[in-house]
Amino acid sequence: MQQRLTLRRPDDWHLHLRDGEMMKAVLPETARHFARAIIMPNLVPPVVTGADAAGYRDRILWAKPKGSKFQPLMTLYLTETTDVRDLRAAAEIGLITAVKLYPAGATTNSASGVRDITKVMRVLENMAQIGLPLCVHGEVTDPEVDIFDREAVFIETVLGPLRQKLPELRVVMEHITTKDGIDYVKGGGDTIAGTITTHHLVINRNHILAGGIRPHYYCLPVAKRETHRLALRAAATSGDPSFFLGTDSAPHLDSAKLQPCGCAGCFTATNTLSILAHVFEQESALERLEAFTSLNGPAFYRLPVNEDTITLTKGTAVQHPAQIDTADGPVTVFDPGFALLWHVSA
Ligand code: DOR
Ligand code: ZN
Repeated sequence: MQQRLTLRRPDDWHLHLRDGEMMKAVLPETARHFARAIIMPNLVPPVVTGADAAGYRDRILWAKPKGSKFQPLMTLYLTETTDVRDLRAAAEIGLITAVKLYPAGATTNSASGVRDITKVMRVLENMAQIGLPLCVHGEVTDPEVDIFDREAVFIETVLGPLRQKLPELRVVMEHITTKDGIDYVKGGGDTIAGTITTHHLVINRNHILAGGIRPHYYCLPVAKRETHRLALRAAATSGDPSFFLGTDSAPHLDSAKLQPCGCAGCFTATNTLSILAHVFEQESALERLEAFTSLNGPAFYRLPVNEDTITLTKGTAVQHPAQIDTADGPVTVFDPGFALLWHVSA
C-alpha cells in the first residue's frame, strides 16, 4: 500500500478569498499548499473593472504570509455594462486570467450578474477572439425550476445555445455537481473544461438533509443525489484533462451560516489535499491525483505547471482545526465525516 506521494504543487482553479479581516484569516490556509488560485470576484461591490482587479490583487499580495510565493490569478465579474476596452486591456497586460459569469441571483453576491445573456455577447465575442476563458456559474435562477435541476436546465437552455453561437469561446463550467455536467464537458471538445470541488466528491444531498439540517454542508450548486456524486468521483479520478480542481472554498462566518436563512459555501482550503488523497486512494487512483490538482488546470489555462512539489504521507489521523478564527468570529472547516490520514508537507 502506497504511503507517500510527491506531486507538483497544486493550484486551486476556483477560490473565494473575500477581503479585509476574512481574507487575512483564510489566505494562509490556501497559500500553505497551493501555488496559484483563480480568485473569484464576488466581493461587495464586485470586482468589475481592471482597476478593481489590480487593487484587489495588491491587497491579496499584501495580506499573504511572509515568504509565501502564492500567486493570485485575478478575474473580472461580468456585468451587462462591462466595458470591453477595459477588459481587453486588463487581459493584454496579464492582470486577469478569466472572467466570471454569474447569472443574477444565482448565488452569494451575484445581484450584479447577468440577467440577459444577449447583453454580454459583444464582451464574449471579444473574449473568444483573444482566448480569454469564461468561468461559468452554471445554474438557472428561474424560481419555477427545482433547485436540484438548475444545473441541467442551464446546460440545456443557456450554455449549450451560447457555445453553439460562439464555439471558439473557451469555457470553464465551474463546480460541476451533476452527471449531466460531466457528460456535457466530456463531449464538448477542447474549448470546454470543468472544475470539481472537494466537497462535492464527498457529500450528497443526504449529508445536508437526512437526520437533521446541516448548514455547513449547504453550498451552491447544492449537492445532488448519490449517482451524481459517483459521476463526479469517476471524472475527477479518471485523469481526463477536461477536469481539474476548483475547491470553491467559500468562507462564511458561522454567525452567517447558522441562521434561519444561512449562506451557501463550504470552507475546504484547510483540509482539501488530505481529503482528495483519501478520495483518490479509495478510488485506487492516487497516481492520477497530480493530473487533477496540478496538471490539467494549467494545461487548459495555457500556463506553465509548477516546478516545486508537495509530499503527501499517510500516517496517523491529521489534526486539522475544526474552525479558523477571524477578527469577526469563527469559520467552520468542512468536516468530511471520516478521519484524514494523509499529511501534506511542503
Ligand atoms: O456555495 C457557494 N458559495 N457557491 C457559490 O457559488 C458562491 C460561494 C460564496 O461566494 O460564498
Ligand atoms: Zn464559487
